[in-house]
Amino acid sequence: MPTIEKINGSIFKVVYGNPTNPVDVTLPYEDAYSGLKCEEINGKLQVIDAGKTIISEKDSKVDGGIFSVTFSYENAHFFGFGEKMGYLDKRGKHFKMQNMDNPLHTPDLDPMYISIPFFIAVSPKKPAMGIFANSTSYTFFKTGNDFDVSAKDDGIELYLIYGPKVQDVVGKFTQLVGKMEMPPAWSLGYQQSRWSYSTASEALDIAKKLRSDDIPCDVIYLDIDYMDGYRVFTWGENFKNPKSFSQEMKKLGFKIVTIIDPGVKVDENYEIYKSGKSLDAFVKDRSGKDFTGYVWPGRCNFPDFLRSDVREWWAKSHKSLFENGVDGVWNDMNEPAIVWTDSKTSKVFELMQKGEIDFQILGEAKAFFAQEDFGDEIVHKDDKGKIWPHFKVRNIYAYLEAMATKQAFEMYKPNKRPFILTRAGFAGIQKYAAVWTGDNSSWWEHLEIEMPISMGLGMSGVAFTGTDVGGFGGNADGELLARWTEMGAFFPFFRNHSAIGTSRQEPWSFGKQIEDTIRKYIKLRYALFPYIYTAFYFSHKDGVPVMRPLLFLDQDNENLYSINDEFLFGDSILVAPITRPNATWRTVYIPKGKWIDMRNGNLYEEDHVYKIDAPLDEIPIFIKENSMIFKTDPANYIFEKEKMNLYVDIYGQEAVGYLYEDDGETLDYKAGKYNLYEFAVGALSQGYTIGIKALNHGYAGKYKKVQMNFLNAPRQIIEVTLNGKKTESHFDGKTLKVEFEMEDVI
Ligand code: GLC
Repeated sequence: MPTIEKINGSIFKVVYGNPTNPVDVTLPYEDAYSGLKCEEINGKLQVIDAGKTIISEKDSKVDGGIFSVTFSYENAHFFGFGEKMGYLDKRGKHFKMQNMDNPLHTPDLDPMYISIPFFIAVSPKKPAMGIFANSTSYTFFKTGNDFDVSAKDDGIELYLIYGPKVQDVVGKFTQLVGKMEMPPAWSLGYQQSRWSYSTASEALDIAKKLRSDDIPCDVIYLDIDYMDGYRVFTWGENFKNPKSFSQEMKKLGFKIVTIIDPGVKVDENYEIYKSGKSLDAFVKDRSGKDFTGYVWPGRCNFPDFLRSDVREWWAKSHKSLFENGVDGVWNDMNEPAIVWTDSKTSKVFELMQKGEIDFQILGEAKAFFAQEDFGDEIVHKDDKGKIWPHFKVRNIYAYLEAMATKQAFEMYKPNKRPFILTRAGFAGIQKYAAVWTGDNSSWWEHLEIEMPISMGLGMSGVAFTGTDVGGFGGNADGELLARWTEMGAFFPFFRNHSAIGTSRQEPWSFGKQIEDTIRKYIKLRYALFPYIYTAFYFSHKDGVPVMRPLLFLDQDNENLYSINDEFLFGDSILVAPITRPNATWRTVYIPKGKWIDMRNGNLYEEDHVYKIDAPLDEIPIFIKENSMIFKTDPANYIFEKEKMNLYVDIYGQEAVGYLYEDDGETLDYKAGKYNLYEFAVGALSQGYTIGIKALNHGYAGKYKKVQMNFLNAPRQIIEVTLNGKKTESHFDGKTLKVEFEMEDVI
């Protein structure tokens, strides 16, 4: 029988058996809802809302070390599960949560890098319910009318989270596991990366070329080649003078993000290895020796991030990065990915030398590249000295590494916002890091599938997500890169990255026409910065993702559950990317409300499918009628200018919009040093009223000159009032413009 604990009006905690779990969730918080009940009826759990059963338990059992509970929720569709291949609606699937580096993202690949044992069951006209299995061990899910939630453990701790709306479930889930903090403003800009920028001058040349080609960009990434023989926290021969390198980068307006992998090279002459060894910081094998596995540097040991002293040592080790001007840290290979171990290699070589190749062993060796996790082989120890087999904590290895990395920022960059990018993680990873979806390929199929993957992450609490634009593996062509950049400009995280040995895919790699298109959409991203930053603010505050599926508009409309190739970016933008080569149009389903094509002002009606043109240099983008889009002038990089112009484009006749701003780099916003403005526009018979007020005014502000653009103003407008006073306006035959200084109205 489970124990049932009411956390608040919307959330029940239900514990079956004796689960082991080293991660705490943030509890409790207030919630005023009172209709939800969770009861045991005839020995089975029932979740009842306003008198109706919505979820009922059918069975619970232990089998082969796996604890399973089966529930039913009639006609359920399933969303979330963190990072998973496949479409948005995850009905009829089997999933495993086990952080894994499996670089070939085939349609049925499972598991992937991140484990978020959380999903939302949705059905028209029913309250959406979220289920979070708070287990750091491996978890398993089967979805259908009946669905199973299982863990490789002696029990399972579940949180049942009531909506009724899907976005409420996401918000409440992030109340439990934590929300994204405001990221540094620069991390919303375009970012350039490639595995192979192997000298400081090569990286500088890329930066200079971006500037001379007038392509806005905020960040250059340094992949493993900057290190000395892939030893983490070192600088190699080709980056001999990292400080002057970073100073030159800063002069050009670039930030630097360096990769850090968890594997520490076993090398008696290497400081980090020596200090780790003296702290006894590494995970052990079953015999009690430091576990050794092979990654980029060769033989490595792996920090035991379960221990707080190890996390502190790891945090301190970032000194060599931060004192040399590094701005952000990219945590990779942190599932952890281990390619090879001594015991397996020696077995294979022994057999090969004897001429007796055992195919079973070879097969086993091959499987290393795919599914090996060392779950039973590696041993951790926590702060209390408790021993944990790796499989029980593997899923939080990267989460704890990110926690340590955040600590490094606190140590060396106090009052600066951290920027951490991670490949692996667990529920709540958004508290520490942004997430990219790992090693995709330069395939059209991957361009397309990145939409539901990122939306799935967003529905699982991770708002700051993105993909390797252009594809990591394989060779991109110009058309693919152009289309991917058009789409990537509307993902929360926007970085072009590719693998060594593949064709180059910097913006200029495929000639002028492609570069012009790429520049156009990167500039649009920069123009939209005020809108995007505000969307991030609301995501930070409410947990609602920046990139959302259309079903957020109307979860009673089952048609929306299967729309995987359109998405919402913030409250008012609908994006419909081109996902096929040679395509110059596509069909677009228009959801609830009326939507206006941003390119030409054409108006589209809800619940219709339209054929929409999209030549190579255009992506269909629609703005919700009666909304406002806040823009600025694109610059070389975010906040290049101390004073910025603000443009407020009004689509429709009446709208309310919000604009958030702060200094973009410190933690001062937490103490109220930010501005949140409400802009309201109303239509009169022969004019408009504009009302602007500060809901919070705690920061000097960068937006000085404001221009409000009424895009569909009728010709006969004669009067506009601004905060109650008559003001001047100018009609250019198409758009009515009203201009003023922000300081005059606030
Ligand atoms: C992994 C990462 C990739 C990186 C490479 C080399 O494959 O996912 O982004 O470029 O390692 O560090």
